[in-house]
Order: sequence, then C-alpha cells, then structure tokens
Amino acid sequence: MGFPVERPRRLRRSEGLRRLVRETRLSVSDFVYPMFVVPGSGVAEEIGSMPGQFRYSVDRLIEAAKRVEDAGVPAVLLFGIPEKKDPAGSEAYAPAGAVQRATAALKEKTKLLVITDVCLCEYTSHGHCGVVEGGRVLNDPTLEILARAAVSHARAGADVVAPSDMMDGRVGAIRSGLDEAGFEETAILSYAAKYASAFYGPFREAAESTPQFGDRQGYQMDPANAQEALREMALDVAEGADMLMVKPALAYLDVIRRAKETFHLPVAAYNVSGECSMIAAAARMGWIDGRRATLEVLTAIKRAGADIIITYAAVEAAGWLAER
Ligand code: PBG
Repeated sequence: MGFPVERPRRLRRSEGLRRLVRETRLSVSDFVYPMFVVPGSGVAEEIGSMPGQFRYSVDRLIEAAKRVEDAGVPAVLLFGIPEKKDPAGSEAYAPAGAVQRATAALKEKTKLLVITDVCLCEYTSHGHCGVVEGGRVLNDPTLEILARAAVSHARAGADVVAPSDMMDGRVGAIRSGLDEAGFEETAILSYAAKYASAFYGPFREAAESTPQFGDRQGYQMDPANAQEALREMALDVAEGADMLMVKPALAYLDVIRRAKETFHLPVAAYNVSGECSMIAAAARMGWIDGRRATLEVLTAIKRAGADIIITYAAVEAAGWLAER
C-alpha cells in the first residue's frame, strides 16, 4: 500500500479524531509539585529566577498546598532552607527543621502525598551535597547524615524520601536507616540518573545552594553518558529504590525511555527549574505561547516513558487540563 490509499492526514481532520487516536494522555495524576520551605512565619516571597514560584514559611505553605490539592495534583516535593548553614549540613536532620515541620503540617492539614528531597547542599555552608574535607566531597561519611535526614523526614510523616545527592551507596544507607528506625514502609524515590546540568541555575537561587567552590561534576553525572545512567539505576534498584528518577527531563528523554524499558519500576522525570524558567521567560517576551509550550513539553516527557512528572508547572497545567 502507501499513497494514495494511505493518508495519515485522515486521522488529523478534526479535534474529535485527533482526540480519539491520541497516544499519550497527560493527567493531573502524573504530577508532583516542588515547593520550597523556609523558617519563620508569614513568609511568601517570590523567587526571582522562577516566576510564579515562592519560598514559603510553613503557615503560608499550607495555604498554598491547599490550592495544589484543590487543583487535583496528588503530591508535593519539599525542599528546605535552614536557619543556619554549617559545614556538615546538620540542620538537614533537625526535628524542628523547616521540611520536618512542613511535612507534619501537610500530613495533618491536607491529603497530599509528601515527598521530601534528601540532600545536604541546601544545609551546608559550602553548598556541596556532601561532607567536604580538603576541597573534596567525601562519599562514605556523607551517607550517615543522609540516612539521618531521611529518618527525620519519615518521622515527621513523609510518604516518600527522595535522595538527590548522588553519593554512591546512599539508597542502601537510607533504606537500612529507615528500616532500623521502624520506617520500612517509607518509600525511596531515587534521583538515580541525575546529571551535572546547567538547567539547575534558577533552583540554586531559590534554595541558596550554589557551591561556594568548584562544581558538582565529581558526583553528578556527565551529560554525555546514557549507559552509565543504566548502571546508576541498576545499583539503586539493587540497594532498594522503589522508584527511579531521571533529572533533568528535556535534554534526557532518551534516558527516560531506556529507564522505562529496562527496569520494572515507576520512572519519574524532573522537569527542572531551568526548563520551566526558559519557557516562562520566553513567554513573557511574547516569543512563545507559554501554555502550549508547557503542555507540549509535559506530553513529550510522558511520551518518552515517564510515569511521574515533577514540575513547577503542575498547578497551572492541572488547570489547563481541566479546561480541555
Ligand atoms: C539538590 C537538588 C538540586 C535540584 C534538586 N535537588 C540542585 C542541584 O543539584 O544543584 C535541582 C532542581 C531544579 O533545578 O529544579 N541537590
């Protein structure tokens, strides 16, 4: 066969036909909304590099989270900014830290699923994701601190902990830490393939987590590597990860696809700050249609194989999907 019998355009003639044969359907149930928590009360400050995103104190976070819940978004991912940073990032596991208090308040006042980011970079004075000695980020001494942070989140009520530090062996260390503390039901969403990416720029302003020296290339992955991503994921699966994440999403759609085909675990993709801010900025300039571009990007991430999409556009996109 072939043309003129075959005419793919027949199925594109009307919105009714296009809707019927659409292969990928974005749903609000796919979304996770990242939120930033700070100490204090009455705080809701817009993040300059991330239009429409805010740093909230716990009280204001709850108000915002109710809007997230009303939009139908099932889950939030929490990032904390501490009162005081120190070289060991000790506020990461403070029982009354911003994330721990926010988690408890969210579980009490909403039905949202609470996922917490487990990392030290927001809490360390040097901004690295692990303990530093002699200018190097030490792997093994960091593991115990990460596990303590994860346990403190679980104790506060977190449903899922999400380690984003990229130390070797952290998933296993966190799993044993949780199990020993009696939190064997707390799940681990591992940032398994997390690349050393330029697209985290706006987030680092939001979380005040820019490294004070060097960069993260000694622990985050080289953007050139895909096979290595599969190795990272296999290790995390072996250590007890319940879900795998690829981050960022857009420049790594091939990695998302391979993760989905290789492992039998839910795959999450993180549509990171730089990806969202680029669209927001271009839309503000009138250069692209922000709504269409956002829905196109989210659909592409799902088409690539993501089961879960972590995105700052979650609430807005939920509204658009409800209109359609
Ligand atoms: C912490 C962390 C980062 C992001 C999520 N967790 C920043 C980094 O690794 O520098 C980035 C998220 C985003 O850009 O939206 N390790």
